[in-house]
Amino acid sequence: MPRKRRGNGRPKPTGSGETESEFGVPIPGSILPEEAWARTALKKLPQNGAIDIDALFGRHAPLVVDIGCGNGRFSIGSAWSRKDHDHLAADVLPVVIRYATRRGNQRGLNNLRFCVVDGERLVTQLLPASRAREVHCYHPQPFPRPGEGSVRLINPFFLAEIIRVLEIGGLFVVQTDNSGYWKQIISMVSHFFTFHENNDYWPDAPQGRSRREIYALMKGMKVYRGFGSPIEGINYEEALKLSDQLAGRNH
Ligand SMILES: C[S@@+](CC[C@H](N)C(=O)[O-])C[C@H]1O[C@@H](n2cnc3c(N)ncnc32)[C@H](O)[C@@H]1O
Repeated sequence: MPRKRRGNGRPKPTGSGETESEFGVPIPGSILPEEAWARTALKKLPQNGAIDIDALFGRHAPLVVDIGCGNGRFSIGSAWSRKDHDHLAADVLPVVIRYATRRGNQRGLNNLRFCVVDGERLVTQLLPASRAREVHCYHPQPFPRPGEGSVRLINPFFLAEIIRVLEIGGLFVVQTDNSGYWKQIISMVSHFFTFHENNDYWPDAPQGRSRREIYALMKGMKVYRGFGSPIEGINYEEALKLSDQLAGRNH
C-alpha cells in the first residue's frame, strides 16, 4: 500500500515515470526506472584538505554549489536542466539531506551530490579555491530573535570565503524572506561583489526556486533576491582584510 503524502515535502515512495510536487508546485524531473537511479549521497568528506571535485564527478565541468540546500529543490532542478554542470549541495541537517538524496537518486542525477556539512566548513575547508562557477544560498536560517544575528551564516568572513572558492567571473546568488537579514546582507555584499537586487521572480522558476521561496510566496511574504560577481581584481587576501575591517577587528 503506498503511503499517503504528508504534504510536508517528504518524498513518498513513487514509481517510475511519476512526478512529485510540493505545495502544488512540481518538483523538476521525474522518477526513473530503478536501474537508472544515481548515487547522490556524498558521505565521506576529507579530514584534511579539499574535496577533489573532478574525481568526485569523474569529469571536469562547471561546479554549482548550494549551501543550506534544505530538501534540495533548487539543486535538483538545476542538475536536471543543466546536465553539463556538476552540483554540490550541502545542509547541516541529516534528515533534509536524506530526502534530497532520495529525490536526486530517483532522477538519475549523476551530476549532483548531497552532503551533510556545516556551510562554513564547506567554504573554508572543503571547496578548492577558484573552483565554483556558482554559489547559491537560498533562505539561510535567519535566526530572528534578538541577539542571534551574530550566528548567521552570511557574514563578512563567509563572503570572503565565497570570493576564494568562486572562479573569476563566478556568480553568487542569495535570497531571504527576512527583511532584517536582507538589510545586513546588503550592507556587506557590495564590498565583495558587483551586486544586483532582483525584485522579480526567477524566470526559470516563477513559483520559487526553493521550497522556502515557494512557501514564502504562497504566504504573501516579500522575497529579497540578489546576485553578483566578485568585484574585478579582488582576491582572497584583500577580501579577508576587508572582512576583518567590516567585522571591526584589528590585527
Ligand atoms: C530556511 S531553510 C532553507 C532551505 C532551502 N535553501 C530553501 O530555500 O528551501 C535553511 C536551511 O539551512 C540549513 N542550515 C542552517 N544552518 C546551516 C549551516 N551552518 N550550514 C549549512 N546549512 C545550514 C538548515 O538546516 C535549513 O535546511
